[in-house]
Amino acid sequence: MRNGLFQRLCTCEMIGVWSVLVATLVAVDVSAADDTQRIRYDGYTVHQAVSSSHDQFQKFISEASHIPLNFWHVPHADNDTLDVMVGPEALNDLQAVFDKLKMESKQVVDNVESLFEKERRSMHHIKRRATPSIHSYTVNYHSYSEIIDYLQAVSSSRAKSQNVHADVFSIGKTTQGKDQAMIKIYRNDGRAKPAILIDGGIHAREWIAPAVVINFIYQLAFSSDHHISTMLGDFDWYLMPLVNPDGYEYSRLRDRSWRKTMNVNAHSSCKGTDANRNFGYHWDPYSGGSTNPCEEVFAGDHNFSIPESTNLGNFMRQHGPSIKAYLTFHSYGQYFLYPYGYSSSAVAPDYAELASLARAMVQPMSSSYVIGSSGKDLYPAAGGSDDYAKGACGIKYSYTVELPPRDSVGGYTGFILSPSQIPIVAADTLTGLKAFAIELARRLH
Ligand code: ARG
Ligand code: ZN
Repeated sequence: MRNGLFQRLCTCEMIGVWSVLVATLVAVDVSAADDTQRIRYDGYTVHQAVSSSHDQFQKFISEASHIPLNFWHVPHADNDTLDVMVGPEALNDLQAVFDKLKMESKQVVDNVESLFEKERRSMHHIKRRATPSIHSYTVNYHSYSEIIDYLQAVSSSRAKSQNVHADVFSIGKTTQGKDQAMIKIYRNDGRAKPAILIDGGIHAREWIAPAVVINFIYQLAFSSDHHISTMLGDFDWYLMPLVNPDGYEYSRLRDRSWRKTMNVNAHSSCKGTDANRNFGYHWDPYSGGSTNPCEEVFAGDHNFSIPESTNLGNFMRQHGPSIKAYLTFHSYGQYFLYPYGYSSSAVAPDYAELASLARAMVQPMSSSYVIGSSGKDLYPAAGGSDDYAKGACGIKYSYTVELPPRDSVGGYTGFILSPSQIPIVAADTLTGLKAFAIELARRLH
């Protein structure tokens, strides 16, 4: 199935194509996964330390380079936290580094495996029916093939409508040959409109991000709320719930803490690339990334070395002039970041406009967000999709949103959020998105 051909197909043909595609996929339920193949984290703990400065954080990175660590959250700013997972055998080494650098720390997860297990159990408790309703996809975490089914169902249920349409297409294939599916939701009223692009799931383990995008899709396609109607009158909406489906499936079935894509790396047994360090605008593996394929922030051997970032970058470039805003959803920490992130000295000339639009979004939301310029106010990381959207594609309003939680909620921590939190986080974020779209439309007029 060639990508170009795929994109030109009309909705009706696309449905046919997708059903063939879906039929060939084997739906794997997490609960049914072969648990012997799952990486377990028995006795692993998560520690939260306060990093007073970028300098201290850099010192930590070099002092701890010999310790096998998995970073759950790296500090974005001075006095922000560093959340790090460690195995029982390396705990003393980690503690020694904290002590040496006089960093105060506390243990926030006592047993990572039981945290993961709790999440699996809570997902299992949500009943699945043989023929799930479209709405049922919005209240739990789902597999790649279920997400495709969902997009398909949204599209077909809107196919005969005179009003709102939803076209599903693929922007290209991942390393493992999965389609990177996008849905365009728009009102067919004969008017050409500017567009808003939204994605989630660049990082595999940040499951709340695809879940929130799935909720946006549902609301845009089916809600009768007058704000939604205005949003469809003002904009065409491109939504991609899962930028990195290979990594996402791996995080569901094998390793819950997986962040990267799944490509094979030359001269290394370590797989995957941090897709959000791989975009080609001032790409620099030494700025918040790594040249080591075994690291979680491996930036790739060169920019756009993997299909996931390349396909999304191509899409942004092709549609750049019509896309006025780009929102890429991550978790966690409740940050609202705008370019540039590639260095601490790069500031967008129009940053004040970006900051004020971010404030308009955050203002009606019940969760509080820290708004800032990725590199200047926060710690730099080059190769992000937000920088590419703005710097290379001219998408003025480009943002990274780090969804909740900020701190632990109800015993869940970091990127582990009970599925019961999905509707709460999604509804709050939608409140923000409405304010965002209304303010953006006002500015464009
Ligand atoms: N947590 C995100 C990441 O590490 C932040 C990205 C912010 N944007 C940027 N261009 N640095 O990918
Ligand atoms: Zn992320």
